Parts: sequence; structure tokens; C-alpha cells
Amino acid sequence: MATSPTAQAGQTGPQDASQLRLVDRFDRVATDLRVSLTDRCNLRCTYCMPAEGLDWLPGEEVLTDDEVVRLIGVATGMLGVDEVRFTGGEPLVRRGLTSIVERTRAAAPGAELSITTNALGLARTAETLAEAGLNRVNVSLDSIRPDTFAQITRRDRLHDVVAGLEAAAAAGLGPVKINAVLLRGVNDDQAAELLGWCLERGYELRFIEQMPLDAQHGWSRDNMVTADETLEALSAAFDLSPAEEPRGSAPAELFHVDGGPGKVGIIASVTRPFCGDCDRVRLTADGQVRDCLFARTESDLRTPLRAGAPDADLAARWVKAMAGKRAGHGIDDLGFLQPDRPMSAIGG
Ligand code: 5AD
Ligand code: SF4
Repeated sequence: MATSPTAQAGQTGPQDASQLRLVDRFDRVATDLRVSLTDRCNLRCTYCMPAEGLDWLPGEEVLTDDEVVRLIGVATGMLGVDEVRFTGGEPLVRRGLTSIVERTRAAAPGAELSITTNALGLARTAETLAEAGLNRVNVSLDSIRPDTFAQITRRDRLHDVVAGLEAAAAAGLGPVKINAVLLRGVNDDQAAELLGWCLERGYELRFIEQMPLDAQHGWSRDNMVTADETLEALSAAFDLSPAEEPRGSAPAELFHVDGGPGKVGIIASVTRPFCGDCDRVRLTADGQVRDCLFARTESDLRTPLRAGAPDADLAARWVKAMAGKRAGHGIDDLGFLQPDRPMSAIGG
């Protein structure tokens, strides 16, 4: 990349624009963009949504395929973003997903493209998504027992997830990663079972501490299964040794299982936050930049986009949006307030 010390946000022209980075006051640089393509979902995980669902965003507020692709192009072409993760709600329910992936791939040939999905319908779409240029999938799966799965997601769809995982692996969307949230008294007795199941199939499992991001505001710290509790439960069944690879900005602490090559990750978002190494930035389905999952403010890109702003102006606004990024999520602070948007409207 050419360097010019005078390059500033707001300057126009491809040369100056190529200097921009999404850097915040703490010198963290966001290179990993999470794009929520819809706030809708076909599951109703208890830690995420109420049974009746939520008031979905009105259609006209959701960015069109062209608008999403344009903003991603600004991020990858002008702002140094080299990783794009499509999220939801559930990204597979977005009709234009394949075309969005294809167009993102064309605009950013070198970027790493992935989706975070519940895998419903992935059996049908994995091959097409791989052909469109998707690299990887992260699948949410909290239990491999049909009754526990149905209790958590309020839908009896475990078999679809299993089929989706198999199709993803067959389509080369690997390494296939699985995210699991343990809930006290629901599936916290199943950590080792889930890990054994994943290891047999070559899926990389990561346990995520439950965060206060549910629409119902039902999270409580006492109810949260901590990373240490999870490690203890796993250690009763497996021999875990810390993996040597540096953690970098990846939130998972990795452990080799029974000497490897199998691994398991622990994401201690609450008890051992990794905010200091954060390299993420988020774009909501309605075109708002969020500098953090827990941000209490957002920066509107949709209004200028629809008013005809040029790429350089959108890029400059995005750079500015990072200035308010806080040092950490502050879950332990006395005045902590959950963000207004629930996880399903932010994307993981
Ligand atoms: N805390 C932690 N993880 C969550 N997820 C959804 N809600 C929460 C929460 N409150 C996970 C989902 C999915 C990813 C998008 O985030 O299980 O894997
Ligand atoms: Fe849907 Fe994911 Fe929320 Fe479950 S956690 S209801 S799969 S958005």
C-alpha cells in the first residue's frame, strides 16, 4: 500500500482513500467486518429471542443487495477490511445471499468470506455458496440431543443442522466451526458429549460465554456458565493442553484435546474479555455502523448512501464512526446498560 502521511479521512481520490483505516482511539484497527443481512430468524433460541419473535425491521429500512455490496466494497476497497462475515438473524433466510457473496467475492478477491448460520437450509445451499466464493461457515449448535436442541431453539430441527454441517464440509466450507452456548440446567451437562461428537466429525467446537444481548434482558451473571466451569467439565472427559499458537485478535483460547490434532476453543467474552485486541466492526441490516457488540450508539450510513454520497464520503463517515469505540464492553461496570438492539439484530 502506498503511504502518504497527509492522507486524512474525507479526502477524495483513490490514492488518498486507500490510506484510510478503521482505527480507534486505542489504536485498534478493525479489519474484520460483520455484516448482518437480516434481523429475522427461523429459530427462537431462548437466550436470543422470545418465542413470538421480535418486531422485524420494515423492508424499506433494510439495505438492498446493491446497497450492502456497495458498503462492503467501501470497507474492503478503501478501509483495509480483509475479512467479511455475513450474519443475521439468520443470513440464509436472506434471499439475495448467494448473489451478495458472489458480488463481494468479485469486489474483494482476496478477502476471507464466511457466514455465521444456524445451518437450517445449508444442506441445500452449501455447494452454491462455495461456488459463489464463500470460504467458511460457523454453525451455531448447542446440543446434539434432539430434545435439548428443541428446548433451546423452540424448534425440532436438529436433523437439518446435522445435514447442513455435512453439506458444508462436503462443499469445502472448512474448517467447519461450531459455536455453542451453555445454559445452566439445560445443556451444561452436555459439553463433553458435544465436543466428542464434533471431534469425530472434524468440526472445530468453540464454547461462548453467554452475553447480555438477549432481547428479553433475561441474562444474569449467576446463571452464566463460565469458561472455567466449561473447562472443568471438559477436563473430566478429555485431556486439554493449551495450544501454542498465539491468540492474536481471535477471541477463542484454544486447547489441544488428548494431544491433538483435535482442538476446542473457549470464548470467555465475559470473564476474560478480549476487547483490547478487538479487530471487529459491524454493519447492521439497516445500514448502521456499530463499533462494538455492546455499543450504545451507531453511525448511520444508509441515509447518506441513499442521498447519493460518493464512496469517499461513506468511507470518511465510517472512519469517523470508529472514534467513539470504547475500551471495553463494561459488562462488569456498575452503570452497564445492555444495548437496545438484541444480538439477533446486530449479528454475532
Ligand atoms: N451470548 C453469547 N452468544 C450468543 N449467541 C447468540 N446470542 C448470544 C448471547 N447472548 C451466539 C449464537 C451464534 C452467534 C451468532 O452468537 O449462538 O452462534
Ligand atoms: Fe436465530 Fe441465532 Fe438467535 Fe438462535 S441465536 S434465534 S439461531 S439468531
